[in-house]
Amino acid sequence: MKTNSSAGGSYGTRIADLYIVHNLAAVNGGSRHTYHAMPPVGWMNDPNGFNEAFGKYHLFYQFYPFGPEWDSIHWGHYTTQDFVKWKLEPTALAPDGEYDGGGCFSGSSIVKDGKLYLLYTSVLSETQTQSLAVSEDGVHFEKLGVVIPGSALPAECLRSDFRDPKVFARGGVYYLIAGSMAESGEGMLLLFRSADLKDWKFVSVLRKDSLTTRGIYECPDLFELGGHDVMLASPQGYETEGWRYENVQSSIYMVGKLDAEKGVFEKLYEDEIDGGLDFYAPQTMKTRDGRTIMIAWMQMWHRTMPTAKHGWAGAMTLPRELSLKDGKLYQRPVREIERYRWNPVSYTNVKIESNTELTKVNGTKIELCFTLDLGTAERVGLKFYRKGEHDARIYYDRKADMVIFDRSRMGMEIAHDQKEKDASVRSVKVRIENNCLDMRIFLDVSSCELFLNGGERTMTGNVYSDGDGIAFFSEGGSAKLVRLDKYDIVV
Ligand code: FRU
Repeated sequence: MKTNSSAGGSYGTRIADLYIVHNLAAVNGGSRHTYHAMPPVGWMNDPNGFNEAFGKYHLFYQFYPFGPEWDSIHWGHYTTQDFVKWKLEPTALAPDGEYDGGGCFSGSSIVKDGKLYLLYTSVLSETQTQSLAVSEDGVHFEKLGVVIPGSALPAECLRSDFRDPKVFARGGVYYLIAGSMAESGEGMLLLFRSADLKDWKFVSVLRKDSLTTRGIYECPDLFELGGHDVMLASPQGYETEGWRYENVQSSIYMVGKLDAEKGVFEKLYEDEIDGGLDFYAPQTMKTRDGRTIMIAWMQMWHRTMPTAKHGWAGAMTLPRELSLKDGKLYQRPVREIERYRWNPVSYTNVKIESNTELTKVNGTKIELCFTLDLGTAERVGLKFYRKGEHDARIYYDRKADMVIFDRSRMGMEIAHDQKEKDASVRSVKVRIENNCLDMRIFLDVSSCELFLNGGERTMTGNVYSDGDGIAFFSEGGSAKLVRLDKYDIVV
């Protein structure tokens, strides 16, 4: 099918948009977030093409409009001025070409000569290639065809697993990193180079795992931060290392140096990006004011999607500002969210008992910032989305010396892949200084994002419950809330 951008999108995108208009009402409010990007109807997975162009920020995403399940994948499109309020734009890409009929999989975007180019994975039956599309207005996209065929791959790579191009410019040259897998099963990250975005040459294998138990690296990303290069990737089947990488699919960052000309990435440090349950396929963009913003899919593969019964599935995390401190990645919620704080409530020096409820500290669309003095407690933290017996919990466990996110009491089982120990409890290690711990928590109807110690670690997880209660608790000793600030987030 030929695309016709000037007439308002291709045949496939027009069908998607008509379907959206006629079915918006079928999505009921159930579990719907209020300040996170979600599909208008149907299914959302990875963020794609995250960028600034034509005076606004663009967020594309993996989109199946016709039902709340993954299927024939389109690129949905949102724009925003502040990373908090999202404006729905016409669907950008539909799998209606002769080389992408199996799906327009994940990819990225770049601005060149005032035009916005999308590089995405075109899927046709068992073959994955990389394709280009262009827009002159940031709304309508014209497909320009396959730019990296399978024949460009090193012989050992599977042509059926070659996807998710992340494009960037260095020294007047374009580069792209894509994920792949060797026939023998090792995950790989591949570097390509181009002068014009159309003619691409393979440069090198940036990373190849030695373990055959690992799968493809999905959704790579690369950016400069604090004098270093940071590479992100979302490996399938990454092996659990203690409390790290416990989800069936993980997201990792690697701090190091990329010599793009030679095609070598020298890694200094590697770690998991988010220690929660629902975080995958992060992608970054640079803002004009120099910030690096990351957004990710706030879900996980191979789990049940309780929101499907409401006509939608999948959402994005809050966009997060990235920085490096002592060579480690720090994440903070995008500062613009603070413009939406309402009804501030503060407490200082509150003794935490076995169940401490505070007046006006409850809700499901809120931000909580607090410092806990861990005192002598064995466990200290809070219960939220709480009603009767049901709640989710975040607490510090002294014996384990870990922060735990636990949604096992939310009143619903999430079915999961057998490779995961469970889909309800995750833990992370953090630095405890002066016996205190800082937490910043965002709740949005069915999600929870925790930023620990100014973003040293984060934990993201969805919670499905109709409770709005909050109670602090301590067990086995005393503890104190040094200070608590609570805001409603109203958009
Ligand atoms: C990651 C992913 C990508 C792929 C896309 C398909 O979540 O599997 O590798 O391009 O989703 O929707």
